[in-house]
Amino acid sequence: MIRVCFYDTKPYDRIFFDELKEAYEVEIEYFESKLNQKTAVLAKGFDAAVAFVNDSIDSKTIAILYENEIKLIAMRCAGYNNVDVKAAAGKIPIVRVPAYSPYAVAEHAIALLLTLNRKTHRAYVRTRDFNFSLNELVGFDLHGKTMGVVGTGKIGRVFIDICKGFGMNILAYDPYPVKDFDVSYVGFDELCEKSDIISLHCPLTKDTFHVINKDSIKRMKDGVYIINTSRGALIDSEDLLNAIKDEKIGGACLDVYEEETELFYEDMSYKIIKDDVLSRIISMPNVIVSSHQAFLTEEALYNIAETTLQNIEHYFTNHVLDNEISYKNSK
Ligand code: NAI
Repeated sequence: MIRVCFYDTKPYDRIFFDELKEAYEVEIEYFESKLNQKTAVLAKGFDAAVAFVNDSIDSKTIAILYENEIKLIAMRCAGYNNVDVKAAAGKIPIVRVPAYSPYAVAEHAIALLLTLNRKTHRAYVRTRDFNFSLNELVGFDLHGKTMGVVGTGKIGRVFIDICKGFGMNILAYDPYPVKDFDVSYVGFDELCEKSDIISLHCPLTKDTFHVINKDSIKRMKDGVYIINTSRGALIDSEDLLNAIKDEKIGGACLDVYEEETELFYEDMSYKIIKDDVLSRIISMPNVIVSSHQAFLTEEALYNIAETTLQNIEHYFTNHVLDNEISYKNSK
């Protein structure tokens, strides 16, 4: 049996791993704590560590895992901006789940947009209180509007297909355009200038850090909607807040937030939130925030469990590691 410890777990994470673990001959111990410099030592005695989006796998964490003879770090997610891949090179291989359900994320982005635009979250609360007034619930047709999509990878393309179904015009920006996909590619500045709604579907890298900032916002149409289901730090949160206050931005649908690590996935309803920017953003009537849940469908969770366990099995049976993050490719 391969012994695996599992960081930052919640009950919904465990369901499919528990269902599949015997088939992959893996023994799992679940930890609620996130993986970081303080908790890395918990991995002592295990063969592999499984981690998630808000774990902090920096060089010190990697050094501690290495000292404790962890042979593999298996990310149960696609993004790996929270891993110091350089520090791991030559010490511990890192694998990930490159795709598990682009539909889950694209559909959630649309759910946020439809909710915020048509104000169904407000209507739901009102009608439960027998308030049948329609005041302030006016939205706009998506049909005929221009959607700007940043990143036309797996999720971006599913998102575009859904938007085409609404009869929207699509503009896309990607430094690596897809050849066999029917979409109009434009430069990032032009996308900002011409889009009614902008949705982010690119990874967080040094090139995309704060790609939505006061300068790019200045180029956008007045009343633009921004959707971010990718990574929080694609947006400069303070610039976003200021643009919402200035009524430049008409709406923001956020599944991710720059400083989400200590907050998202936890019940903070009885705690004092120290992050004034987040508190203020959440207080805005034209903002909807979900807690990094775009991936959360049964299909995605099953695929995450299956690919993670397969990655682990492949490593310990000396198979080729198709899903390894190599330092060379991550640069
Ligand atoms: P992907 O790798 O299939 O596509 C990413 C696309 O972004 C590629 O076409 C790439 O060329 C493009 N890209 C790279 N640099 C860019 C830049 N500077 N500007 C614009 N585009 C750029 O990835 P996938 O599966 O579509 O995922 C996209 C992102 O969604 C992930 O990186 C991850 O951060 C996020 N995600 C969020 C989830 C959630 O639950 N909220 C779940 C899964 C992924």
